Amino acid sequence: MLLKSPPTPMRKPFIAGNWKMYKTIADARALAHGLRSKLDALSDRDVVVCPPFTALAAVAQELQGSSLRWGGQNAHWEREGAFTGDISAHMLADLGCTYAIVGHSERRQVFGETDAMINKRMHGTLAAGLTPIVCIGETLAEREAGKTYAVLERQIKESLAGLNPASTVVVAYEPVWAIGTGQTATPDQAQEAHAFVRKQYAGAYGPPAAQALRILYGGSVKPDNSKFLMEQPDIDGALVGGASLDVESFSKIVRYNL
Ligand code: PGA
Repeated sequence: MLLKSPPTPMRKPFIAGNWKMYKTIADARALAHGLRSKLDALSDRDVVVCPPFTALAAVAQELQGSSLRWGGQNAHWEREGAFTGDISAHMLADLGCTYAIVGHSERRQVFGETDAMINKRMHGTLAAGLTPIVCIGETLAEREAGKTYAVLERQIKESLAGLNPASTVVVAYEPVWAIGTGQTATPDQAQEAHAFVRKQYAGAYGPPAAQALRILYGGSVKPDNSKFLMEQPDIDGALVGGASLDVESFSKIVRYNL
């Protein structure tokens, strides 16, 4: 009898736009409207936008009833409380969000967020019924010092601590030196890091959970490089910053293979 190797699990491609601190309500509406008309019909990939908090309600209205989903760019772990300037995962759920980015490198670097804090954000996001997009990635100095894998290992261990393997999370590998710099990791560099992340995840949560885990690449993803990144076996999607602010460029990235 022929022994068949187990089938490669299908991971649905996942492309998310991180709008960062861009777009007024009117501009956000226009962008969401344009994306809906270009991307609504695509059912073989998940398309998500993460507008600034101020534009979430307007974007939710524009995308209601479409195949596109929306999420927050950060989420507090408490349901409510005296946390001036923060927004809870529960409030995001109230706006119909499906996702929340947590641990973005700008939160880590500019606002001093630690792995411990990001871990709380991840748990709070899950408790509110949302899927966290947990970002990890090394700085240029860490890469040059040969510490890339040690950093990724620590971030995975500490940011995801206590995760129930049955819970769904999305991980985004975003090398800090590639974010907003135009300097993308090569597909080989990214694949190597993604394979490492999957291996670490398998060690912590078991091979089936690791096979199902979607790992996004982020850092200067553009229409002309998305296809080559997405072709890599362990790259399941993209977290797009600058190029997600324009209907044409984000649509091209989402339609990378069409
Ligand atoms: P970028 O940003 O695509 O502008 O490099 C990616 C991110 O910060 O998520």
